[in-house]
Amino acid sequence: MMKDKRVLLTGASSGLGAALAYTLAQQGARLALFATNLERLEGVAEKCQERGAEVLAHAGDVAEASDVQAAVQRAVEAWNGIDVVIANAGISMWVRFEEVEDPAVFRRLMDVNYMGVVHAAYATLPYLKDSRGLFVAVSSVQGKVPVPLHSGYVASKHAVQGFCDTLRLELLGTGVDVMVVLPHWLRGTNLRQSALGKDGQALGATSRRHSSESITIEAASQQIVQSMLKRSRQLVMPWKLKLLTAVYALRPQWAEAVIRRALRKQDLGK
Ligand SMILES: NC(=O)c1ccc[n+]([C@@H]2O[C@H](COP(=O)([O-])OP(=O)(O)OC[C@H]3O[C@@H](n4cnc5c(N)ncnc54)[C@H](OP(=O)(O)O)[C@@H]3O)[C@@H](O)[C@H]2O)c1
Repeated sequence: MMKDKRVLLTGASSGLGAALAYTLAQQGARLALFATNLERLEGVAEKCQERGAEVLAHAGDVAEASDVQAAVQRAVEAWNGIDVVIANAGISMWVRFEEVEDPAVFRRLMDVNYMGVVHAAYATLPYLKDSRGLFVAVSSVQGKVPVPLHSGYVASKHAVQGFCDTLRLELLGTGVDVMVVLPHWLRGTNLRQSALGKDGQALGATSRRHSSESITIEAASQQIVQSMLKRSRQLVMPWKLKLLTAVYALRPQWAEAVIRRALRKQDLGK
């Protein structure tokens, strides 16, 4: 169980991160929550406290190593260590590569999605080694397969996969496990509204439909915590998406046809 586990959770102010915070709070974990929007983060922290959890809320940008380091310091001062890190913070994009007006969009995606994971690992590794803890990165199935309109996001999640797979190998024998979570579309998050458009600004509200394969953040967080307890190396949600990644590795053209069809259903046109 997660009772009394000391957990650092990035991207906890909304969506999957908030749902994970509630699930972990229910199970008695101690939570260090991190995101840029302090007001929203404190709202999540309050709801965790109502569930009986001990919570720290720390505002910062995962792209800034010093912000992550400061949050880790606070958690370590409060609890004398860290058992679990969930590097979940992320942003997306929704634009064809050739329509992007400023390539800085790609740097921002790498800074948040990839360097955010690296910064979390870098700042916590000594403590995870002490506690023989668990490092979890919330990636995406797009860390294994391409999806049009998401080139920078797909690249950043492929980087996360490569980093985590290598870190796992380097940490063999230390007692620290590394788990990568690869969700398909999730319902109930802000990821689409905050996705970067061609001018590098968030797209805002959108009327795009969710895929019929999408899963709720509540169901996803339950599955993630179950896999954390088993210290799995990877969790693909829903599980049948594993087939897509396997087909992509063997016959990429077949998988690409499936991906294009799925995207057309979501009004992606062209
Ligand atoms: N939604 C999906 O369909 C889907 C599918 C596969 C994978 N995922 C992954 O799931 C994770 C969670 O996303 P979500 O879907 O729950 O979206 P979300 O509701 O937008 O949550 C993203 C979280 O990350 C935080 N965040 C964003 N930029 C940050 C930064 N620079 N520094 C610190 N925190 C930052 C956001 O908080 P602030 O705005 O307060 O900073 C928010 O708490 C992401 O890694 C995403 O790639 C999502």
